[in-house]
Amino acid sequence: MSTDIRIGIVTVSDRASAGIYADEGGPAIRDYLDKVLASLWHPVIRVIPDDRKIIADTLVELADREGCCLIVTTGGTGPAPRDVTPEATEDVVEKPMPGFGELMRQVSLTKVPTAILSRQTAGIRGKALIVNLPGRPRAIAECLDAVMPAIPYCIDLIE
Ligand code: MTE
Repeated sequence: MSTDIRIGIVTVSDRASAGIYADEGGPAIRDYLDKVLASLWHPVIRVIPDDRKIIADTLVELADREGCCLIVTTGGTGPAPRDVTPEATEDVVEKPMPGFGELMRQVSLTKVPTAILSRQTAGIRGKALIVNLPGRPRAIAECLDAVMPAIPYCIDLIE
């Protein structure tokens, strides 16, 4: 990873995007990355509704036009009708990276039995790695702790 990196943080939530409640997931991702990244980085933040096209368009914008090397989403990974973040991710990635979701679920299952309800996935679009996280703020560190060791190497490989 270079010293000046742009990272997309996308909160996918009908209610947070409508201002019905405050976005907690996005700030939790930002705090986490502030702690683990020694290098300078710039967050590119979006808070959007659970709409497959809006999610896909946002991922494309952050990967292709905003130059993000990593895009982390939070929310919309469960089984409810409006949960479509994994589908939108699959719509835009060129290479699925199923190991990320598998590992995050495996680690999360040691914390909460409901971790099996997340369909979180990951993939590569151009020079961007896209990783889905569940919407619960406490899931952010639980999941990122598991996959963070592989992320800089993955980004180096696609640069
Ligand atoms: N994973 C971790 N690590 N911690 C959690 O609390 N919550 C689960 C699961 N994965 C959870 C987790 C629950 S309750 C749900 S419904 C699914 O993620 C999907 O959440 P989402 O639709 O908000 O993405």
